Amino acid sequence: MRVTTSQIQAFKQEGKRFATLTAYDVITAKLVDEAGIPIILVGDSLGMVVLGYDNTIPVTLDDIVHHTRAVARGSKKAMVVADLPFMTYHKSAEQALDSAARCMQEGGAQAVKLEGGKVMAPTIQRLTESGIAVMAHIGLTPQSVNQLGGFKAQGKTHQQALQLMEDALAVQEAGAFSVVLECVPAALAQLISERLKIPTIGIGSGPGCDAEIQVVSDILGWFTDFQPRHTKRFAHLADEAKRALAAYGTEVREGAFPTEEHGFTIDEQVVRDVEQAFPAAS
Ligand code: KIV
Repeated sequence: MRVTTSQIQAFKQEGKRFATLTAYDVITAKLVDEAGIPIILVGDSLGMVVLGYDNTIPVTLDDIVHHTRAVARGSKKAMVVADLPFMTYHKSAEQALDSAARCMQEGGAQAVKLEGGKVMAPTIQRLTESGIAVMAHIGLTPQSVNQLGGFKAQGKTHQQALQLMEDALAVQEAGAFSVVLECVPAALAQLISERLKIPTIGIGSGPGCDAEIQVVSDILGWFTDFQPRHTKRFAHLADEAKRALAAYGTEVREGAFPTEEHGFTIDEQVVRDVEQAFPAAS
């Protein structure tokens, strides 16, 4: 049985902080699951850390469904949340329902995430009334990067801070089971967390949130094009991979790999028969 939304909400009631992570493939999903992480997000960050785009906007619903299927296959316990990509839920609640249905039926997700506060509340309500678990996402919403003018902290001014609190309350009221607060100043994120009944999941929003989410490739030191301020490297996998790849190249060039132990044997007579059947050209 996978982690449920009630269990996630119980964490908040019991005052238990929890960690969540993204994953995009079977192997990573298996490792994250085995580490006891209760929620795996198939984030549209895959556009940047897996597909090589500059931002999340080119990511399609097909991309998310494809990677969600892999993550669902790789994990057993964690709740798998599929991130609805840019323009796959903005046009209407019907469009959001169709997109969420694909993530769940084809991808095997247990929930979906979407970006936006008060303005998305009717959509969240429609999804939750249809039995779909929704994780909301406010603050820095990367799908609006062009409108926001870059990846920067949100909610710093008086007006923006009030708006963020309103957004948080609106998504909760609409039925979201949790809300991501991305790059919200720590004191404001803490206040929002105190005012909400549902768990807040912070990224770049300080230690006062109920949970934390990070991009798995960032914390493992696997994606190294740049290091966002809000992340910390708990490993240096890219360095280790570079060392291993160079060693592999060297050993193959020098004849140190492969050796007999990496191959298969054959009866010598069979080889002699082939030799006779195909004599060397004189
Ligand atoms: O796409 C993503 O990975 C996300 C998280 C960073 C919250 O939205």
